[in-house]
Amino acid sequence: MWPYPKIVAHRGGGSLAPENTLAAMACGFSHGYRAVEFDVMLSKDEIPVLMHDSEFGRTIQASGEVATTSAEELLKMDAGSWFNSAFSDVRVPGYEEVFRFCQKHQIWMNVEIKPTPGFEGVTGKVVAALTQELMRECGAQAIPPLFSSFSYEALRSAQQQAPEIARGFLMDSFEPTWQQSLITLEAVALHTNHENLTPDWAKQIKQAGYGLFCYTVNSVERARQVLSWGVDGFCTDRIDLIPANFTSKI
Ligand code: G3P
Ligand code: MG
Repeated sequence: MWPYPKIVAHRGGGSLAPENTLAAMACGFSHGYRAVEFDVMLSKDEIPVLMHDSEFGRTIQASGEVATTSAEELLKMDAGSWFNSAFSDVRVPGYEEVFRFCQKHQIWMNVEIKPTPGFEGVTGKVVAALTQELMRECGAQAIPPLFSSFSYEALRSAQQQAPEIARGFLMDSFEPTWQQSLITLEAVALHTNHENLTPDWAKQIKQAGYGLFCYTVNSVERARQVLSWGVDGFCTDRIDLIPANFTSKI
């Protein structure tokens, strides 16, 4: 039901490095993590890049939007200074570059497809198609990623393009149609905000045979609690506090 790592570094390096960058992936790796979650969005010219916000301003000190900026420009942008001046040479990475880094270091990926509003279908399709191409190139030893998205449309489109790549459907809180959505998407897991999970809903998800993944669990106490409810895995910002080999017995 969840043949994936249990403990996953959120946005690559959690709170220790600028999110969704190669420096973040390297940081997670140096803390012993062999599993990462990150967000992927399309540039103006439909190249998948790692980015959480569709508008600049928080992690990119500029005005503008990802969807109206070319990949050539995006890949030159400073994605590290907002976090700490020690990361001022860190740039926005392409999905391809991060995918190759993770495969080289045998890091499992939860690729969150994060479309700019209005670009849901195309984002799912393009990310899925590039993943297929990279999986072929990386050969038999490649670790298949798990796609996830809050966007049903993006995941549906990824499913049509690459049915062989597993999917988890993200929802912030309980949706009465959760099971129907998972069935149509042929999803293997439900991903949700641990703050909105209840023991009863967790039980229903597990009894229905799905994997259950939570974001973003940042304390040992809460990690123990959600694991005791049957949660299979979670991502965390506190990679300094929660070791990659954490179990409820630690
Ligand atoms: O994929 C889990 C989590 O990353 C979802 O929320 O906003 O951090 O991308 P967000
Ligand atoms: Mg995310």
